[in-house]
Amino acid sequence: MSQSKLPALILPIDPHSCAGGSPTRVRHLQLELAVDFTSHTLSGIATWQLVNPESATEIFFDVRDLTVEAVVTLDAAGAASETRYHLGPVHAVLGQALQVALPYGTAAVRITYRTSPTAAALQWLAPDQTAGTEPFLFTQSQAILARTWVPCQDSPGIRFTYEATVRVPAHLLALMSAENPQHLNSTGEYRFRMAQPIPSYLLALAVGDLAFAPLSHRTGVYAEPATLPGATAEFGDLEQMVKAAEQLYGPYRWERYDLLVLPPSFPFGGMENPRLTFVTPTILAGDRSLTSLVAHELAHSWSGNLVTNATWNDFWLNEGFTVYFERRIMEHLYGREYADMLQVLGNAALHHTITELGATSPDTHLRLDLAGRDPDEGLTEIAYEKGCAMLLTLESLIGRPRLDAFIKEYFTCFSFQAMDTATFLHYLRAELLDPEPGLEARLNLAAWVDGPGLPANAMVPSSALFGAVEQALARLAKGEAPATLLPRPADWSSHEWVHLLHGLPASLTVAQLGALDAVAGFTNSGNAEILMAWFSHTLRASYQPAEAAVEKFLRHVGRRKFLVPLYRALLATPNGLARARAIYAEARPNYHSVATGTLDALLGEPLAQH
Ligand code: BES
Ligand code: ZN
Repeated sequence: MSQSKLPALILPIDPHSCAGGSPTRVRHLQLELAVDFTSHTLSGIATWQLVNPESATEIFFDVRDLTVEAVVTLDAAGAASETRYHLGPVHAVLGQALQVALPYGTAAVRITYRTSPTAAALQWLAPDQTAGTEPFLFTQSQAILARTWVPCQDSPGIRFTYEATVRVPAHLLALMSAENPQHLNSTGEYRFRMAQPIPSYLLALAVGDLAFAPLSHRTGVYAEPATLPGATAEFGDLEQMVKAAEQLYGPYRWERYDLLVLPPSFPFGGMENPRLTFVTPTILAGDRSLTSLVAHELAHSWSGNLVTNATWNDFWLNEGFTVYFERRIMEHLYGREYADMLQVLGNAALHHTITELGATSPDTHLRLDLAGRDPDEGLTEIAYEKGCAMLLTLESLIGRPRLDAFIKEYFTCFSFQAMDTATFLHYLRAELLDPEPGLEARLNLAAWVDGPGLPANAMVPSSALFGAVEQALARLAKGEAPATLLPRPADWSSHEWVHLLHGLPASLTVAQLGALDAVAGFTNSGNAEILMAWFSHTLRASYQPAEAAVEKFLRHVGRRKFLVPLYRALLATPNGLARARAIYAEARPNYHSVATGTLDALLGEPLAQH
């Protein structure tokens, strides 16, 4: 069905932005930024071109922790005039509304501002927090942190194109979610252009001692010079991934696809900044075993960046489709058996999350209600794995060819637009469900979207390769010695080892852990996912030989998904609170505010003031 047959897309009110109160909105950003590593601030001028400004007398922007120095309006010829503006009350999570009066004849609003040294989106790293000898800066805008470094209409339903000029110290390279330089220039001034409209949460900037290596004519990788060779080897299949994605769901619409490997304090695994995915160095396992994360961020170039969740209540539309798409890319490259392993691991994580949230919690619904809360609270496996499980279940009912045609058409039809759950359901019914009586009931759609836990009809994934792992687990449970039944470390993929570790009982003794470690070398593994699964056992049993490795990991890595379970496991050990706090006190400067926000709450008040 073409989009014209649908009701016009009327966006729901976004509870996390004040922009919806404006009768007009932005369409293009001209950004000038100066990056000051001494004061840890950006000073900026954001000039916003507006849509039909003559229809409005005022506009609202989101700002948080910004010092607004001046606001002027520009007419169509670019002449500036003073205007009235007002900053609303401060909300800890949402920040403030910046209300600007628009005199008749206004074409654009120009805001001169400065960021705070503690701006939540920004992480300023000292040289010793990098792989080299220079400082580093990166941003993390999703979900609602863009407003801490650019005054913007910070709602995923509002898109704009942008151009930027960024001034940095002359020996550092600046990169954005835009057309990027591949080399240093002598002036320290870099110009960027993003010609496709994006929402504010995809605004991104990184500045550091960065080098580039091409992987194909349209893909490549940026990293600190010391990290670049390893990164180039790890991501050798990138072009094949882009090709596979295009074969599945249509052309890649963003021209280049590059990766930026960040220092280890990056708080996420990956972030799908358009044209330049940001990734954690913890996926550099040396054997390409963790590259499904790259497939995931690449898939967002369609699900999320082309068709975008209208509000954070619709986050599953971004992440659920992306996880499904990610596994299809991995299947294309490495086969069904490989993708099945990922699916089984994902399903285990989903069950774990449902148990944690409570089987009847409304936060286990796909459609969330995050009004009045930090949208971060919606960032659970529900959006990812329950979303994906719904699509897999639909696939089992209608077959891949029909589902693939539907998804491709969905991405095409709603490219560069926002999508909310209600509109998606309308489209799904019109395209797939209504023509086939009984299909919606068999899918149990309402239970997926607005019901708790996992509907009874959910597909249960299985993995042939995990059969051998489960046999090993059964023999271990009977008391057989690890040395006689486990393969050499290289004989299994990291996914098989992780599955083994998840399947081991919680009651293992120090001696049993030592025997496993001797065969599989878990403590010295270079694979972050194996380490994570292993540490949950070693911490529980107070297995001393892994203690130093746990501490090193906590001091080095800033990925929140790893830190939270590790600190929790540490807290549950004897004297755990004191140890966790001691490590945290030292490691905290290494972490991004996205991580410290969660960890301050977990580890107690005293540290919140540090
Ligand atoms: N877009 C997300 C990261 C995100 C979501 C940041 C919400 C802030 C708010 C990204 O695509 C993602 O999902 N990253 C995952 C990895 C993925 C393989 C599941 C992560 O960082 O762990
Ligand atoms: Zn994602």
